[in-house]
Amino acid sequence: MSTEATFSRGLEGVIAAESALTYIDGQKGILAYLGIPIEELAEHSTFEETAFLLLHKRLPTRPELQKFTEDLASHRPLPAPIVELLKALPQQAPPMALLRTTISALGHFDPTADDVSLGTLHQKAVQLISQLATLTAAIGRLRRAQEIIPPDPTLPHSANFLYMLTGKRPSAEAARVFDVLLILQADHEFPASTFASLVVASTLSDVYSAISAALGALKGPLHGGASEQVIRMILEIGDPAKAEPYIKERLARRERIMGFGHRVYKTYDPRARILKEYVQKLALQAGDTRLVEIEQIVEKVVIDALGAKGIFPNVDFYSGTVCYYLGIEPELLTPIFAISRITGWMAHILEYLEDNRLFRPTTRYIGPPLRHYIPIDQR
Ligand code: CMC
Repeated sequence: MSTEATFSRGLEGVIAAESALTYIDGQKGILAYLGIPIEELAEHSTFEETAFLLLHKRLPTRPELQKFTEDLASHRPLPAPIVELLKALPQQAPPMALLRTTISALGHFDPTADDVSLGTLHQKAVQLISQLATLTAAIGRLRRAQEIIPPDPTLPHSANFLYMLTGKRPSAEAARVFDVLLILQADHEFPASTFASLVVASTLSDVYSAISAALGALKGPLHGGASEQVIRMILEIGDPAKAEPYIKERLARRERIMGFGHRVYKTYDPRARILKEYVQKLALQAGDTRLVEIEQIVEKVVIDALGAKGIFPNVDFYSGTVCYYLGIEPELLTPIFAISRITGWMAHILEYLEDNRLFRPTTRYIGPPLRHYIPIDQR
């Protein structure tokens, strides 16, 4: 251990790994996967292609993309005991907790679970990306006391998820919006969940443990849990006329407004900018712009008050509303974030294990100086 080691609360500003996956300029609001701006991926790519890009660090050829798409689709069905386990668990438990439990349980059905060689991990990445979506849809169905719907192998990943969740084949527009949401959230450099997954993976533990850790981190309201709270807040405000006083009161109480602020972005999150456009289109299509009007007022009031401090909307401010218009309930928003972000977790694990180094930072000791043990009858 170096005596020069610096201390940074929450590891803020600390570079903890090297990565070629995601570039972020938090001052200029730039996000790119393997150098490709997120705006271009959102416009031209698909979730499958973006997942390939992150896992293989290059865009696929047409035959490669077709094979990858087929591989993803082939892994969708869950082992029967996992379905039974899901049914046996309390249906109203937090969906993220159910997801964490069942992802962990999936490992018991994988005879090669402890194999962390890169070739095997590539296969597990495809399997886990595929099955996390199936698990989430099943959790959503069981919460509403509905039958689980088996996957449709002919549908793309996003459309199949919406089908498994709702029982209806989505319109091309709905499937595309959801696909864009998955593209936007697929990776984001080094947030708590990705770091958590790498901490576990760096011990050469199995990937089910690493993904369970990531799910645990994503569950928290300061990370993935914010989008659920945002949509609940917007629904609670309910009326554009109430938005400004509602936010001003909360700011006066020095409360945090969910969906704003970011450890990295000190300007508008580029993902939020893209989603904002989609939300506006969805609202017009639905003939109900009430939520969008509320969001615009909330956004303005918060930026007026805190923009100078670098507090702007983040991706979670609009992702919940996108899902709301797609008929997805707030409880599923964090699992949907996970459906996408598991791609980044697996890509980072694959990249990190190419040249693994155990994560083992240190603490600055602030406890008592060395002293003698006092026997219990002398205390
Ligand atoms: N509402 C009001 N004030 C805020 C907010 C907010 N959402 N975020 C930060 N601040 C203030 C904070 O009170 C502090 O003020 P002061 O300097 O006067 O004490 C200042 O801004 C700096 O805050 P910080 O907590 O030191 O900054 P951080 O880098 O730790 O915060 C954050 C990052 C995401 C935890 C924080 O902005 C936050 O709590 N946001 C709300 C939760 C949220 O939306 N999370 C989703 C993040 S985006 C999804 C993802 O990529 O994971």
